[in-house]
Amino acid sequence: MAKIEIKLSDIPEGKSVTFKWRGKPLFIRHRTAAEIETERNVPTSTLRDPEADDQRVIKPEWLVVIGVCTHLGCVPIANAGDWGGYYCPCHGSHYDASGRIRKGPAPLNLEVPTTASSPTRVSSWS
Ligand code: FES
Repeated sequence: MAKIEIKLSDIPEGKSVTFKWRGKPLFIRHRTAAEIETERNVPTSTLRDPEADDQRVIKPEWLVVIGVCTHLGCVPIANAGDWGGYYCPCHGSHYDASGRIRKGPAPLNLEVPTTASSPTRVSSWS
């Protein structure tokens, strides 16, 4: 298991910071109260890849996803796109602040590392 230690207190609210984990970009986003509220209230029936926000986070203020677009593997840009989450400039996929695909060709949400392998499990949430 690849472990990394991340000092969460260095990530300001509203920012998404990119780390490298297992050779891939890892996005850690310190979500604002407004983002949490917005993402919690999205009806999953409206989503292409239906997942409730609380299924994708361990703590609501922290989103941890693999930063690889599920279309053809480009690295999306944070705080961009129509939903303000992530935007993939390669072919125009828009993800929300839960990393869920909302528009464009990507078929799936940005991947949340599995619980067993999640780097968040080896970090302190303090
Ligand atoms: Fe991201 Fe195609 S690789 S939209």
